[in-house]
Amino acid sequence: MSHQPQSDRVIIFDTTLRDGEQSPGATLNVGEKLAIAHQLALLGVDVIEAGFAVSSPGDFEAVQAIAREVGGRPDSPIICSLARAVPKDIEAAAEALKPAAHPRIHVFLSTSDIHLEHQLRKSRAEVLALTGEMVAYAKGFVADVEFSPMDATRSEPAFLYQVLERAIAAGATTINIPDTVGYRTPKEIEALIQGVRQNVAGIDQVILSIHTQNDLGLATANALAAIESGVRQVECTINGIGERAGNAALEEVVMALHVRQAYFNPILGRPADHTEPLTRINPQELYRSSRMVSQATGMSVQPNKAIVGANAFAHESGIHQDGVLKHRETYEIMDAATIGLMENQIVLGKHSGRNAFRTRLQTLGFQLAEEELNRAFHRFKELADKKKDITDWDLEAIARDEVQADAEPSFRLEHVQVTCGDCTCPTATVTIVTPTGEILTEAAVGTGPVDAVYQVINRLVKIPNHLVEFAVQSVTEGIDALGTVTVRLRHEDRLFIGQASDTDIVVAAAFAYMNALNRLARSLPAAAPAALSA
Ligand code: KIV
Repeated sequence: MSHQPQSDRVIIFDTTLRDGEQSPGATLNVGEKLAIAHQLALLGVDVIEAGFAVSSPGDFEAVQAIAREVGGRPDSPIICSLARAVPKDIEAAAEALKPAAHPRIHVFLSTSDIHLEHQLRKSRAEVLALTGEMVAYAKGFVADVEFSPMDATRSEPAFLYQVLERAIAAGATTINIPDTVGYRTPKEIEALIQGVRQNVAGIDQVILSIHTQNDLGLATANALAAIESGVRQVECTINGIGERAGNAALEEVVMALHVRQAYFNPILGRPADHTEPLTRINPQELYRSSRMVSQATGMSVQPNKAIVGANAFAHESGIHQDGVLKHRETYEIMDAATIGLMENQIVLGKHSGRNAFRTRLQTLGFQLAEEELNRAFHRFKELADKKKDITDWDLEAIARDEVQADAEPSFRLEHVQVTCGDCTCPTATVTIVTPTGEILTEAAVGTGPVDAVYQVINRLVKIPNHLVEFAVQSVTEGIDALGTVTVRLRHEDRLFIGQASDTDIVVAAAFAYMNALNRLARSLPAAAPAALSA
């Protein structure tokens, strides 16, 4: 893959693993991040923002593992780490990115008066000086440095231009314009980008980029408006996840450029009928990427979500159905097959071997370690005994459970048994193994079987939490389907998501709860829960 700037195509910078992971509750472990990064590489993104290396040991480890395992080859995507304009952030990013063939450090510093006054407590002169110093410092580690003036769209344009000139003079190779609070409209974005292009010396020598948040639901429209004004890199996330209302959705930006290629071709200096795609994305991998991110983060995709929502290709009205049956294009501007949305095929059965299983998981984007593969294969065989037809979606659910299993010591659910029914008091007996290896068993009654199980787990784990969401979804059709349970817990002001699948939804509920509690436990400082040291 060439990493030279090109003005006649759009560079896709994916920040699912950095800004996307800032979605409340969506923390991912290193295994999950690696699986998503492998899928992003398969999807064909140009840049993977793998994390914010200095922010936690887990983030550092994830950036490093992605740099090594996904970014280590000459044809790998660029691997990027975010860094504040602070030496220790830049050093951590540089260290974590060492194994990458194409490392990028992304330095950011606020430029709006509201941020300078209330958050940074710095003068404009200090911000200007710091921009030059820290971009130059990052440049001492890597050739590829991106600079973002945070809250650019609420900054005074004249000051913004000065900061950008300073960043370019210090060696920035990409200049990114963040609409940090999702405040601007497409026309305003166009005017700002034109202003930057006309007033910043050296801007034509670097890649101009846009980062749009979705607070007013305008992220994709703003990203496309920026492309129309000359931007050639778009920062986006799978399913549009991210801080608050999220970011521009990768699949929306990419499919807009794909479906409306004849419109965008001349904007990028090509003849209208040019057929070479405007991005390097393989649209066939879009649907799979969406499912993987949704499963790993526990953030469901709304049914009416553009491109990847369950209803995106469904027709309810009789007139529409009639039209589509007669000629698909009467009511469809794209074919579901283009984004890899096929019929949910039966892929494996009871007699399928380990090799076929491993190969299918690899095709689905899961690279499981030997131990994980063994456990997953065992679960597949158990499932095949209960359920006749095993589909890709069942396999995804099994692989997801393995990938999210903690590498670090954690609470493990050993056994769960429930008695329930009408005229019975729902009672659960649960056995867990603590991170220190102790085996604990308790029983409790509850208002229902799930309540009883959760009461016991809470007594054993002893981490205060409040269950804010509990949802069950069937993975496939049919009464023998796997059920996926998603739970969301609140601890103090933070949310933690857990997910698990099983043909028995009470068992899935127990595992999902354990999964969320382990995420919560990992986030706790030294004050470990009582059972950790028990
Ligand atoms: O929203 C924002 O400003 C960001 C920058 C770090 C690009 O995420």
